[in-house]
Amino acid sequence: MSAKIIDGKLISKKILEEIKIEFEILKKKKNIIPGIALILIGNNPASQIYVSSKAKICNELGFHSAIERVDEKISESDLLNIINKFNSNKSIHGILVQLPLPKHIDENKIIEAIDYKKDVDGFHPINVGKLVLGQKCFIPCTPLGIYELLLRYQIETSGKHIVIIGRSNIVGKPIANLLLQKNSGNATVTIIHTGTKNISSFTKEANILIAAIGKQNFVTKEMVKENCVVIDVGINRTTDKKIVGDVDFENVKEIVSAITPVPGGVGPMTIAMLVKNTFSAAFENEKF
Ligand SMILES: NC(=O)c1ccc[n+]([C@@H]2O[C@H](COP(=O)([O-])OP(=O)(O)OC[C@H]3O[C@@H](n4cnc5c(N)ncnc54)[C@H](OP(=O)(O)O)[C@@H]3O)[C@@H](O)[C@H]2O)c1
Repeated sequence: MSAKIIDGKLISKKILEEIKIEFEILKKKKNIIPGIALILIGNNPASQIYVSSKAKICNELGFHSAIERVDEKISESDLLNIINKFNSNKSIHGILVQLPLPKHIDENKIIEAIDYKKDVDGFHPINVGKLVLGQKCFIPCTPLGIYELLLRYQIETSGKHIVIIGRSNIVGKPIANLLLQKNSGNATVTIIHTGTKNISSFTKEANILIAAIGKQNFVTKEMVKENCVVIDVGINRTTDKKIVGDVDFENVKEIVSAITPVPGGVGPMTIAMLVKNTFSAAFENEKF
């Protein structure tokens, strides 16, 4: 039997519609327009596409977006000045610096310069710490999108064994922390990385397997348990310029109960969660 396809495109559309309705109500009550600043450094084509599509979706909802395009030779101090300018701008509620940064700029310093109350990417150490402590905070968009997909498809996480392949700061670690918390997952979580031996022995035990590796076809049918749920975070470009995930989708879907496709799974959720975080930054000050 073929798996249920977890449709991130459909769910993200629904979420954006829900935000739009809530926004129309709150706009009249509070007279606030959520504003996001998107800082784009250099000419990386993928980054340019990501930033434009983030701005486009925000604009379609009636949010305010400001794209700050800067030369890749910008000095660290000039970039810090731009961030400070947005930190003190009251019409900007969310700030996003598109990564990766040029090598001469210290990524940690830049992320730490963002006011954590405007850190809609959830990368600031204060938000990371709050997530670990189970406190309200901005949660990075991709993990939050995965969590939202599991909720909306009513996939039980409590008491389940969730195996995550990848321990990056933007996907693996935050999704592990989120799903571990008693009130948001309550799962038993295993994290796999390049230091893990006999990876299949762990993945075969998973009720839910989350792949965030960045390697095409890394997860094969032989590595998964029958009827488990597979979330594929990977975005890989094939030699014929197609986008594929980290999972051998065609074969794995034959034995699992549900699976996200690539494209159309986690990807659209990431942008929807950025909009959600920006909305929260504008309207839910009590969050902090
Ligand atoms: N859909 C979306 O919106 C979205 C958002 C973000 C990222 N992504 C995609 O998700 C993938 C992962 O992104 P990322 O930023 O987390 O990547 P990353 O920073 O490169 O991390 C990859 C992780 O996978 C682990 N890994 C790599 N090869 C492995 C192997 N052979 N065995 C075991 N573990 C291995 C690495 O382990 P070590 O730590 O030991 O090196 C690392 O922890 C990429 O394809 C990226 O494009 C998608």
